[in-house]
Amino acid sequence: MTASLPLFAAVPLAARDPILGLNDAFQADTHPKKVNLSIGVYYDGAGKIPVLSCVQKAMQTLMGQNAPRIYQPIDGPAAYTQAVQRLLLGADHPAIREGRAVTAQTLGGTGALKVGFDLLSYISPNVKAWVSRPTWDNHCALLEGAGFPVDTYGYYDAATGGFNLADMLRDLNRAQPGDIVILHACCHNPTGVDPTAEEWTQIIETIEQRQLVPFLDIAYQGFGSGLQEDSEIIRRFAERHLPVFIASSFSKSFSLYGERVGALTVLTANPDEAKRVLSQVKRAIRANYSNPPIFGAALVSTVLNQPELRALWEEELTGMRDRIREMRLMLRERLSAQAPGRNYDYIVKQRGMFSYSGLNAAQAQALRENGSIYIVESGRICVAGLNANNVDYVAEAMAAVQKS
Ligand code: LMR
Repeated sequence: MTASLPLFAAVPLAARDPILGLNDAFQADTHPKKVNLSIGVYYDGAGKIPVLSCVQKAMQTLMGQNAPRIYQPIDGPAAYTQAVQRLLLGADHPAIREGRAVTAQTLGGTGALKVGFDLLSYISPNVKAWVSRPTWDNHCALLEGAGFPVDTYGYYDAATGGFNLADMLRDLNRAQPGDIVILHACCHNPTGVDPTAEEWTQIIETIEQRQLVPFLDIAYQGFGSGLQEDSEIIRRFAERHLPVFIASSFSKSFSLYGERVGALTVLTANPDEAKRVLSQVKRAIRANYSNPPIFGAALVSTVLNQPELRALWEEELTGMRDRIREMRLMLRERLSAQAPGRNYDYIVKQRGMFSYSGLNAAQAQALRENGSIYIVESGRICVAGLNANNVDYVAEAMAAVQKS
């Protein structure tokens, strides 16, 4: 017998994903008081991942239709992509009216980043990509996978637990024309720290002056201040008539994580550019996964396109946002009681699902090993995993690892 090719003999073991790997470990953990504050998932007050009522109603409608499971258009159905544009830009935005905005359904926000980066690597292969320091880990993996060298711009200020505009502008001023800048439109992941409107003005001006390409990641629309407020920065970029990329996701806002419902939107200069860009977006999708799945996007477009369901969704989203805010207040109160000398105001100043706790990797590991409390090793805590029943347990454990 001929010896088989030792193809896998030297394949190295890849590192466990810093977020999904912890989520797997959490599922396998049998500790009765385990708490999942690792992955960006919203749990309700009873510690359950909700199926939203608006989604349940849309599901009943769709099930009743018993539609054939045909191949979808490569860029997804128009009812979905148009609803996405209206949600991001506002119903009567000039970019929509003038046919300058292109949107394609993607496999979650990650799929949108992947397709967008593939498109950019075709259009401008020799540029660099810039991400915030820190950023969502997968940004770097996706950018490097598309062939871009990745550099970082200053963002988080560990001393204040806030945003450092001077560092960001200094670094962006080192970028070259055409370089891609990944920005978190709201609810920055992992820090929960967002620039103010005035700070965004300076960021937008720098990006425009240096002819950089803004790529906005908006996975948490509605979890900061509201749907309109959280997408404001998209409209501010759109005003400048720059080429803009937007990766959006309904994983969190519709609690539809496993359905992988997202979209890539690109703002171009005119309908002719839009047509050509869309053709390249479709080419990139076809070469990745051919065309998108039906169900999740059908749920979202059913809700977004029916006024009563849309109103119900907004109400449910407000409920999720308000509950997270309550948990922030509760966590600050409990931690302050545990460690009176420390200032925990950063917890209530940060927005969205995450709080950057300042805990280090060893402390995160201790939380996991001693009490089955899972947080990301960067110190990121998903506040949406807290509830009235586990917040004391978490606060005591956090205070204990900070003391030791
Ligand atoms: C997160 O940051 O936890 C989420 O965006 C889930 C993921 O895919 O990492």
